Amino acid sequence: MDLKNLRLNYKKSSIDFKNLEDNPISFFLKWFDDALKVNKDEANACVLSTVSAENKPSSRVVLLKSVNEKGFTFFTNYKSNKSLDIQNNPNVSLNFYWPELERQIRITGIADQISPKDSDEYFKNRPRESQMGAWLSHQSTSIGLYYDFMDTLNKLESTFKGKDIERPLHWGGYCVIPSKIEFWQGRPSRLHDRLLYEFDENIWNKKRLAP
Ligand SMILES: Cc1cc2nc3c(=O)[nH]c(=O)nc-3n(C[C@H](O)[C@H](O)[C@H](O)COP(=O)(O)O)c2cc1C
Repeated sequence: MDLKNLRLNYKKSSIDFKNLEDNPISFFLKWFDDALKVNKDEANACVLSTVSAENKPSSRVVLLKSVNEKGFTFFTNYKSNKSLDIQNNPNVSLNFYWPELERQIRITGIADQISPKDSDEYFKNRPRESQMGAWLSHQSTSIGLYYDFMDTLNKLESTFKGKDIERPLHWGGYCVIPSKIEFWQGRPSRLHDRLLYEFDENIWNKKRLAP
């Protein structure tokens, strides 16, 4: 397989450094809106990186479920490997890559468990099968190669028959409170545009970075 010649000359867009948003969340929302137009199903997929107690990094995809002035929220199992990492070290990063737009956004911040009430609110609106999934999967634990989820699923279905499915306490959201947000726009000849926002003393400072 020859990978040496796999390359793209990015030329779809640029960052207008003369007209920048003061708030990176507003800028994020603009780019997110563009991403939804080209990938309406999974523009919210992003890579979450955490660091373990042994200082080993680990990355995986999660789905962004809300954004506001406070930060970026995703949902997961609070006993999963990522959650164990976060409980030990809340410093995380999120990475969005939208190839259709030749854009990347990198977010660095602190992951904070959202309130049980907010997790309940989101859980209530999930499809019933996903609600069941939160109960039946002990995410990140080792299971038998031939483990059959259908048995457990059938049992759960009868337990919850005719009832609302409550959120398991081991499942909920994290909000990543950002301290840095970097916007990357691919440009011709690898002279990409990079704009970094850093939060310091209650204001977002911006600087341009070399590609
Ligand atoms: C497109 C996509 C979306 C995903 N969304 C989530 C998510 O929102 N929450 C989650 O816990 N895992 C999600 N996953 C699964 C994770 O990538 C990962 O396998 C799982 O969370 C276990 O990670 P951990 O063992 O590092 O905790 C998603 C995977 C893919 C490919």
